[in-house]
Amino acid sequence: MYYYPYVNRYIEFYNYSINNLEDFWAYQANIIPWFRRWDKVLEDNHPFYKWFVGGLLNASYVCLDQHLETYRKDKVAFYWENELGERETVSYYELYNRVNYFSKFLQDLGVKKGDVVLIYMPLVIDAIVAMLSVVRLGAIHNVVFSGFSKNAILGRIEDSKAKFIITATHTYRRGKKVDLLSVIKEINVDSIQNIVVLDRSGDFKEEGKYVKWPTYKEFVYVPPVPVESTHPLFVLYTSGTTGKPKGIVHSTGGYLVYVASTLRWAFNVDNDSIWWCTADIGWITGHSYVVYAPLALGITSFIYEGAPDYPDPSKWWSLIEKYKITEFYTSPTALRMFMKYDLKYVLDHDLSSLRMLGSVGEPINPEVWEWFYVNIGRSKCPIIDTWWQTETGGFMIAPFIGILPLKPGFASLPLPGVLVDVVDEQGNSLPPNTKGYIVVKSPWPGMMMGILNDDEKYKEVYWSKFEKMYYPGDYAIRTEDGYFQLLGRADEVIKIAGHRIGTFEVESAILENDFVAEAAVVGVPDEVRGEVVAAFVTLKQGVSVNEELKQKIIGKVREIIGPVVVFSSIFFVDKLPKTRSGKIMRRLLKAVVLGKELGDITTLEEEASVEEVKKAYEEVKRSIV
Ligand code: WTA
Repeated sequence: MYYYPYVNRYIEFYNYSINNLEDFWAYQANIIPWFRRWDKVLEDNHPFYKWFVGGLLNASYVCLDQHLETYRKDKVAFYWENELGERETVSYYELYNRVNYFSKFLQDLGVKKGDVVLIYMPLVIDAIVAMLSVVRLGAIHNVVFSGFSKNAILGRIEDSKAKFIITATHTYRRGKKVDLLSVIKEINVDSIQNIVVLDRSGDFKEEGKYVKWPTYKEFVYVPPVPVESTHPLFVLYTSGTTGKPKGIVHSTGGYLVYVASTLRWAFNVDNDSIWWCTADIGWITGHSYVVYAPLALGITSFIYEGAPDYPDPSKWWSLIEKYKITEFYTSPTALRMFMKYDLKYVLDHDLSSLRMLGSVGEPINPEVWEWFYVNIGRSKCPIIDTWWQTETGGFMIAPFIGILPLKPGFASLPLPGVLVDVVDEQGNSLPPNTKGYIVVKSPWPGMMMGILNDDEKYKEVYWSKFEKMYYPGDYAIRTEDGYFQLLGRADEVIKIAGHRIGTFEVESAILENDFVAEAAVVGVPDEVRGEVVAAFVTLKQGVSVNEELKQKIIGKVREIIGPVVVFSSIFFVDKLPKTRSGKIMRRLLKAVVLGKELGDITTLEEEASVEEVKKAYEEVKRSIV
């Protein structure tokens, strides 16, 4: 079938993994140390799955303590730098000391197994110390991206019942000081027992619940609390089609086995690697591939707190040169931004340390792939396109070590133990080169355990569209040779610069303006960010349209969700086009924004007749002010 012998060998190995799923994962689970071996590899209570049941471990032990017995004790765990050029380096041993010290501090505050601790911090080493200290005690972290605003934090506290917050006074972005503490101070939730503040400015004053992050004095040992494999490691909120962001819960054992395995398989990271994953810890990519997988494998990482193109577009490339990065993992959005700039910013730098490049978050278009391959990889580094989601924990489709050939725009073959297919509306497998829904047909250890406090939603969103298949909500095609190409979301999730934003969330935020009657938003293509938001708004009676209203709408959305939401346009219309059952015809709205001809759109809406769609289309167009 394949011309490349290595691929054939991989397929054999892959088939073995699928046909012996439990044995395969049981063997693979030795990639991390356990305090107690599991009794059962997989407990199938469809659609709830438990991995390595009966096993005991601790994530902080997996990431730190295990390395102290090896030469990795003094190996660098993280190099860190920020926009001001400040630098910090920590070895595994130093990180271990800091985590123990901070664990003790948290323990004294009363943090214990099962408590939820909200972390609202920029990308600094102490943010990682915070995460590992929380899990050392068996508590559960809920990291909230530092670009999110007050309401996003409030919603998460309410849902996760977080008892503690760990934050920092500020961060820097494009040379500007961004205050984080003031955001936290706007929140006054009685159930929060303490707020620990990393004082980066030197003028923080302890007061009431607000306590200062302790300065390291001496070594203290806090025994890592052994937790069950199925004990939640963290909850991370992500946007879906309807309702508020969902609290995705990941396990400890299955998750760690999965992220460590997949990082090694896809990027072949090694003892001499200097790994740079550019994601923030506020996203799943940061959890899995900045914190847990690299530390579990004992490799050296670089992290950077700041904007990619500040003070100029050579920033990232100069960092690759300076730190001699060997594997570089980023997003198509970032690459598209760099493609706008003069190539000299890239070519002026010696990037010869690079061995592997990676991409995540959205489909990487072939032009971007070529640019990445030629200019950053200097035509010698494979591009590892990794398809996965918050819910999957780690990579699902990505080239296994050294697989050839790579095809621009294709995430290649599924990783071992991951059974993926492309199906039609009824769940039947589709022939090659036919667009359909991507599904996962067998459980894998990195899979989420569920949605916090909402088993029904978990069943409905992921397991009800098809019988016994996990539904990720993406379109894909598969070629004759089994390669997968991902074609974007099949639902109403908008991917702005790779970040998942639900239409419902944006609409709800727009509705917070008292002059707005109704709102509908759609994602529209954007050259750099992949997608941005176009909004259609109807105003309350008596309100007249003016430019200021648009600014107010944008301001409100920023206030409620944060600056991650970027608008292309806001249209004021008389009424929103709806089907008889009251569903907003979003695809029609999209067609209006994209200036598509009527002919293209008549088949767009399943629930309305051609005549209705035509009429609605004309009405919307006519009424745009
Ligand atoms: C999209 C990010 C194409 C996809 C890790 C998925 C991708 C969503 C790729 C999950 C890729 C992620 N090619 N599309 N390599 N990687 N996606 O939860 O639509 O923020 O469903 O996780 O990103 O986004 P999330």
